[in-house]
Amino acid sequence: MDQINISMLDDCFSYLDNLPDLDDIICQAGINAQYPEIPEEETAESLAITSILSRSRFFQTKFCQNLSKEFGTMKTNFFKNAPMTTYDWHRDLGRKVSLNFLLREAPNSLVLYRNKEYGIDRIRYNIKVCNYVPKRPVLLDTTIQHTVINYNDQPRFILSLGFPIEAEYQEVKKFLMSYPSFNSYI
Ligand SMILES: [Fe+2]
Repeated sequence: MDQINISMLDDCFSYLDNLPDLDDIICQAGINAQYPEIPEEETAESLAITSILSRSRFFQTKFCQNLSKEFGTMKTNFFKNAPMTTYDWHRDLGRKVSLNFLLREAPNSLVLYRNKEYGIDRIRYNIKVCNYVPKRPVLLDTTIQHTVINYNDQPRFILSLGFPIEAEYQEVKKFLMSYPSFNSYI
């Protein structure tokens, strides 16, 4: 049983070495973007996620238009994790796969995946670390539980391209791994 659980983590994200670095101007746009303040009183309607994202114009790029042609309309958002915060264990709502770029170094931040609990106690998990390199694309299977911990005095910024709910991690991975070579997203 443990063997089965461990293998769930074998392919929960991929570093896409065939795609170019995210352009500096896009990284700067995300770092300088306006992020709404966290509402003082959070209600059921004001989901926490709305306070940390900012829409990106990345959807206008040829690359993103091609993704939309293949999979349907993409959502392109910058995310900001405030200093010394954690984004709790979750599976993403509304998407099964995302393509993320870390916008700048975030040395003391940690992205973890975990598999289903093993045994009967629901306390023990296997984990896997996703090591982001600034500007490099990482494709994530967001149907598997993951968390972000930013134990850092600086915010952590990412660009996240969300695929439509119908898109599956493996099909997107196959498409992107054989994507024709190019040098810049802009
Ligand atoms: Fe997530």
